[in-house]
Amino acid sequence: MGLKHLISIRDIGKKEILNILEESKKMEDVLNSKKTLKIMEGKILATLFYEPSTRTRLSFETAMKRLGGSVIGFTDIRNTSVMKGESFRDTIRVVSDYGDIIAIRHPCEGAARLASEYSSVPVINAGDGSNQHPTQTLLDLYTIKREIGRIDGITVAFLGDLKYGRTVHSLCYALSLFKDVEIRFISPEELRIPREIVCDLLERGVKFQEMETIDLEGVDVVYVTRIQRERFPDPNEYERVKGKYKLTLEHVKDRDLIIMHPLPRVDEIDPRIDDLPQAKYFQQSFYGVPVRMAILKMLLDQK
Ligand code: CP
Repeated sequence: MGLKHLISIRDIGKKEILNILEESKKMEDVLNSKKTLKIMEGKILATLFYEPSTRTRLSFETAMKRLGGSVIGFTDIRNTSVMKGESFRDTIRVVSDYGDIIAIRHPCEGAARLASEYSSVPVINAGDGSNQHPTQTLLDLYTIKREIGRIDGITVAFLGDLKYGRTVHSLCYALSLFKDVEIRFISPEELRIPREIVCDLLERGVKFQEMETIDLEGVDVVYVTRIQRERFPDPNEYERVKGKYKLTLEHVKDRDLIIMHPLPRVDEIDPRIDDLPQAKYFQQSFYGVPVRMAILKMLLDQK
């Protein structure tokens, strides 16, 4: 694939994305057949999580173990030498001498890119601030492909926190690589999609609309996001918008669409929706394992 690190979805093109989706299906088949792969025997994944995570870290660790490899890492910097004043550069340099590949999550935008400059082994961005979450994007695309059967020609509605939601930013860009995709952004005024993403879509000729009312007519995928308290510089701003957008049974029942959410969720989806066939968010988080198996294989294969 010619890629050393996976920092931004912008680092890869449509061809590479389709290759990863194809490899992910093979990995899903392996998981479903309960076979064990040994292709990562002797390889170590280092998971450096400077910010909380459930799905991304655990699915990366599951992926590496399902491939026969092992895992080291930290989930709480209070137990690391960062607390003694060690620089980011030194931490990454040392860990890249221990592991064969690094998955890093960090609250600062650009941290994963910086890590890739200090590391002697491949670095995967597992989420950097409000910026990018490329492996989530790949599993989101995989979910759409598996559950709808195509990505070209679909209409996707993004709902909720479109300003700080890094999964939305990454996925918008990736969708713009596919043919005839239409996007609907539904959010309060304060949480509108950033203007640079709008400029990207305009440049690429992607049809999109922005609105404040939940209208899912003609939508194939509704992608719900949490209003992220931790990203708001001003807590009063969070208080003003929290709970404003909630997907209810009335919005989705009898509609031919799928409901996705990167999770974790708080109260933005009525829990009664969980039992509808349209609800795909738990399936989506499961798909994180085969997709991350494919990503690990691709990045380590070329070394
Ligand atoms: N979707 C996602 O990134 O979840 P976590 O924060 O639990 O990793």
